Parts: sequence; structure tokens; C-alpha cells
Amino acid sequence: MSGFATRLRKATMVEHREAETRSFISRLMAGSVPRAGFGALTAQYLIVYRELEAAAETMRGNAIAAPFADPALSRVPALEADLAYLGGPPEPTAAAQRYADHLRAFCHTSPEHFIAHHYVRYLGDLSGGLLVGRKVAATYGLHDGGVSFYDFDHITDPKAYKIAYRERLDALPLDEERLSVLVAEAQHAFALNGAVFTELGAAYPEAISPAA
Ligand code: HEM
Repeated sequence: MSGFATRLRKATMVEHREAETRSFISRLMAGSVPRAGFGALTAQYLIVYRELEAAAETMRGNAIAAPFADPALSRVPALEADLAYLGGPPEPTAAAQRYADHLRAFCHTSPEHFIAHHYVRYLGDLSGGLLVGRKVAATYGLHDGGVSFYDFDHITDPKAYKIAYRERLDALPLDEERLSVLVAEAQHAFALNGAVFTELGAAYPEAISPAA
């Protein structure tokens, strides 16, 4: 394996490790985020995915980006249902607002920016995201709602989907300059996510009783 998909994975390995081990998400995995904090995370995702999926709508008309902008991935309806279940309107953190503004500014016109952001969120959702979903359902006892974001009911085989996705990355008809923009933008996407996690971590400190 030496194609662009591998290059992108390697170039974001450090950022991924940080997201996995040092953030709000790792506390979520340890069951030490109060339930309201999980609701707030869902609300931030709704703000972000509305922009990402509005850009996907635009990018369905772009020859380079269209193969990525698959409606089967759409998360907004699931997030709306989850948030209705968990309660509370989306109170945007400053970080989620910045992330959403950035998506709106770059991802409707630049396929390399769009693909970078698309990759960081959806390939993550189809990987560790599935583990996060199982964990939070158990932590908060969410058996009949609140976690449909983590469940891609239009994608029956996430592993096969990711293999096909990586083939699409390998086949991107972009020159080196634009590929390196895509790599840098994926690193930036991790930073934008990290800022949301940092802000939520400060707003929802460690819970002694996880489901409180
Ligand atoms: C506890 C948190 C997390 C765990 C346990 C986790 C775990 C994983 C695992 C096991 C993979 C490899 C899947 C494979 O090779 O098929 C993966 C891939 C990935 N994750 Fe995560 N992850 C976490 C958090 C995140 C976060 C917060 C993001 C982004 C904001 C993210 C983005 C990605 C991406 C983009 C990939 C695809 C890498 C590639 O194949 O190019 N992950 N994750």
C-alpha cells in the first residue's frame, strides 16, 4: 500500500492519536462524561454536519468530489432525532461555530477541502465511531434512542465501505499541489475537532457517577 489513502492516514496519525487518547472522546470512552456533556457533543455534531452535508449537496455537482458525497452517509436526520431524544437545543460552542464557518467558507467550492473534511469525519465515524456508539449506549443506558448517529443503517458493511473509500482516495485526479492542500486540510480538520472536544471537556468536567 503506497497510494494517497495511505499517505493521508500516515499524515494524520499523530492527530488521530491525540483525538483518541487526550480528549473529551477518551473520557467518553472511559464513561466519565456527564450525560449532559454527551447531549452537548451531539448538539455540536449537528451544527457541524449541517454544514458538511450542505457542502456535500453542492459537491454532488463536482466531478472530483461527487464520488465521496454519498447520501447514504448522511447524519443530519439521525442527529436531529438523537438531539430530540436527549433533549436540549443545540447551544453552539465557539469552536463548533468556527468549524462550521470554516466548512461553509471552503467546502462548497474546493473539492480538496471538502474531501479532507469528509474523510476526517466519515471515515472516523465508520471506524472508532462505531466503538464510541456502543460505549455511550452502555454508559447512559440508551437502548431506544439518542445514539442513531453512530448507526449507519444505509451502510451494511462499514469495512467494505472504507476499502472502497480508500480506493477513491487513491484514484483522485489531483496534482501534487492539490493533494498536499488536501493533506494539510485534513490535519486542520483534526484540529477543529480537537478544539470542540477541548471546549466540551472544560464545560463538562469529570463525572464521579457517569450517568449523572
Ligand atoms: C476513542 C476514540 C477513537 C477510537 C477508539 C478510534 C479508533 C479508530 C480505529 C481503530 C481506526 C482504524 C480503522 C481501520 O483501519 O479500518 C480509526 C480510523 C480513523 N479514525 Fe478514529 N478513533 C477514535 C477517534 C477518532 C476521532 C475523534 C476522529 C476524527 C475527528 C477519528 C478519525 C479517524 C479517521 C479519519 C480514520 C481513518 C484512517 C484511515 O484509514 O485513513 N477517530 N479510528
